[in-house]
Amino acid sequence: MLRSTLAIVSSLVASAAALDPVEAYGNKFFNKDGSQFFIKGVAYQLVPDDPLIDTNQCNLDAKLMKDLGANAIRVYHVDAGKNHDGCMKAFDDAGVYVMLDMDTFNTYIEPTKLYWNSSQFEKYAEVMDTFQKYDNLLGLFVGNENIAKKQDSPVAPFLKAAARDMKAYRDRKGYRKIPVGYSAADIQELRPMLQNYLTCGGNSSEIVDFFALNSYSWCDPSTYEQSTYDKLQEYGKNFPVPIFFSETGCNVPGPRRFQDQDAVFGKLMVNDWSGSMVYEWIQEENNYGLIEYGPPAKKNRRGNDAVGGFIRKGTPTPRNPDFNNLKTKWASLHPTGVSKADYDTKSISTRACPMSTSAGWWQVNGNVKLPTLGETKTGAFESSPSATADPSATATGGGGGGGGKTGDKSGSSTSGPKETGGADKGNNDKENSTDRPPALLGASFAALVLSLAILL
Ligand SMILES: *[C@@H]1O[C@H](CO)[C@@H](O)[C@H](O)[C@H]1NC(C)=O
Ligand SMILES: *[C@@H]1O[C@H](CO)[C@@H](O)[C@H](O)[C@H]1NC(C)=O
Ligand SMILES: *[C@@H]1O[C@H](CO)[C@@H](O)[C@H](O)[C@H]1NC(C)=O
Repeated sequence: MLRSTLAIVSSLVASAAALDPVEAYGNKFFNKDGSQFFIKGVAYQLVPDDPLIDTNQCNLDAKLMKDLGANAIRVYHVDAGKNHDGCMKAFDDAGVYVMLDMDTFNTYIEPTKLYWNSSQFEKYAEVMDTFQKYDNLLGLFVGNENIAKKQDSPVAPFLKAAARDMKAYRDRKGYRKIPVGYSAADIQELRPMLQNYLTCGGNSSEIVDFFALNSYSWCDPSTYEQSTYDKLQEYGKNFPVPIFFSETGCNVPGPRRFQDQDAVFGKLMVNDWSGSMVYEWIQEENNYGLIEYGPPAKKNRRGNDAVGGFIRKGTPTPRNPDFNNLKTKWASLHPTGVSKADYDTKSISTRACPMSTSAGWWQVNGNVKLPTLGETKTGAFESSPSATADPSATATGGGGGGGGKTGDKSGSSTSGPKETGGADKGNNDKENSTDRPPALLGASFAALVLSLAILL
């Protein structure tokens, strides 16, 4: 995106890629020229299995994303066996980086059945193998919202094991240091234990390269305090790895003004956060779309283009005022951050591994020994002999996030604070979780579509 002039020049010479790889260093992302990189992204999953194989469609969308001011997309599922050259180039040409989830429908790391084995590893590796060659690959996720309910946190060591193994694989293959991280549901009872756990222990080979949050706690009109972004900032201050929003953009009551972006890219948070991905590009049942490809499909019978009642290809049309609100907002925000040369990583601090909270959401006790590939778990984790866990971590950590208070209502994950009035009301009527963030709905919807497709 920095290099539009160069891009024009190089495209005259050869079809060289426009974008240079971005690297994670300390708790920030940096461009090759040493300037800091901030994510202005959108979630992009037009079709369940892989939205990055239809070059024509990618070109149409990439053009409008450039107009929106986006420099990144997040894609939840891809098919590693397909050819992605056209789409990756379409986004590259538009100055758009890509972040990908490595799991597919049958390789998701389950919180109910604890395992991380070679079947998953091999599928993740295929995604990495396929995409590592693209300079505009920004990062890879080992999972999305795997911890969503009160009983789910024991899966955390498996997420860390997946990050460990995928980073080791990346390095063994000689790929560039593509950042490997996790995308978490923002659950107040897990703040900040989960983010601290995934980055604790003192061995950089065994932690995530970045931590991202799907947060719907800022619903316009709101404030830094009311949305609890002030708490997110407190926990994110001098965090050891880059931290950003992998989903945001509450749509209740609407229209969305994206005022959280002022906080993220302004002086309140910009020194510690690396930007945000807005949920989501396409209009679907959850009503989060920034664009649509036509009226809801029942009205105009377009057959296969209309999976799930929404047309999923064609020329994107902005849905306003949301699209323009975001465009105007992003156009007004130009964080420069710090240059790599001026950046002192001594300012960052690794947190102690949190101890488990009794009857609480966080059930991993300190720096437990990570599962090996192929290991399944039924009992408790043994503490690692090299544990650096410090019990005092819980005392400072547990306080602000709302600890056990709402935690006793088992199953009520509070991805949006109660006081902002039902961040998730607009999500969906079928799925009965007032607090379930839309990505999960997207995933279950996608799975439904896929099973239908298989049945037919
Ligand atoms: C990994 O675990 C899944 C689920 O239990 C299983 O279906 C698969 O066969 C396992 N893979 C290996 C290599 O054991
Ligand atoms: C760090 O973790 C890696 C991967 O698990 C391991 O091979 C290495 O021995 C660890 N280093 C130390 C100093 O414990
Ligand atoms: C959904 O939530 C409501 C309110 O808590 C509850 O009454 C209802 O039984 C739930 N429905 C399902 C299908 O779980």
